Amino acid sequence: MSSLDEIGLTWHPAEVIISTFNPDGLPHAAVVGVRKVGELEVGVKVFTDTHTFRNLEKWKGATINLTEDAKLLVRIALKKLLGFSENQLKFARSKMVNAPRVIGLPAYADLEVKEITKEKLSDELGESEIAYITLTVKKIEVAKPFVRPFKRSDFFLIESAVLATKVMKAIEGGKTEEAKRRLGKIEEYKRLCDHIAPSSEESAIIAEIAESLKAMMNQVT
Ligand SMILES: Cc1cc2nc3c(=O)[nH]c(=O)nc-3n(C[C@H](O)[C@H](O)[C@H](O)COP(=O)(O)O)c2cc1C
Repeated sequence: MSSLDEIGLTWHPAEVIISTFNPDGLPHAAVVGVRKVGELEVGVKVFTDTHTFRNLEKWKGATINLTEDAKLLVRIALKKLLGFSENQLKFARSKMVNAPRVIGLPAYADLEVKEITKEKLSDELGESEIAYITLTVKKIEVAKPFVRPFKRSDFFLIESAVLATKVMKAIEGGKTEEAKRRLGKIEEYKRLCDHIAPSSEESAIIAEIAESLKAMMNQVT
């Protein structure tokens, strides 16, 4: 079996696609940061009001799927906002754990839940609860070697997506000023991305994120 080091997982979180089964047995995909916490152990922090958390609690299994495609990562993370769905992915049932994996990506690891601890959080977006989950690695497979140079546009896109999850939370919580402040940052990333990668797909997705968030904001104000 390959090691966590071979697939690039270290103490510093790596952004991956986590796939789990919904209660009805259909595959679910989301994006989380995952870190290596032992030779065959990883840790994730997941908000408890997510499908991913509920699925992990129920089925005790997950697969983390590695991609170098920031566009795919962001479409999955912002499914509702960008009109993406699991139907656009192909899954296979893991033989090792109670989880589906995404077919066609360079590498994956099958994981089993070992321990869950929960903590209440409070920040400018309000109250929430987060679960710290330790998972045991049951299998690691590198399907195809992956080497791809970094592009600065990837970073602007991923950071815009992280901000978008916070803007949506702010809108839902009625915190309009917080939502506007973060949306302003996304617009700034869009300008920077346009500058280094004009007419790129990454820039177009950031624009789509900003426009969809503005439409969402207009619906509630
Ligand atoms: C780059 C990136 C990293 C993310 N990391 C996490 C994470 O570590 N934990 C988490 O709960 N949500 C994270 N999110 C948000 C989730 O991907 C997702 O949108 C949200 O948790 C809803 O999940 P659900 O589909 O399971 O309900 C991240 C989003 C992005 C764009």
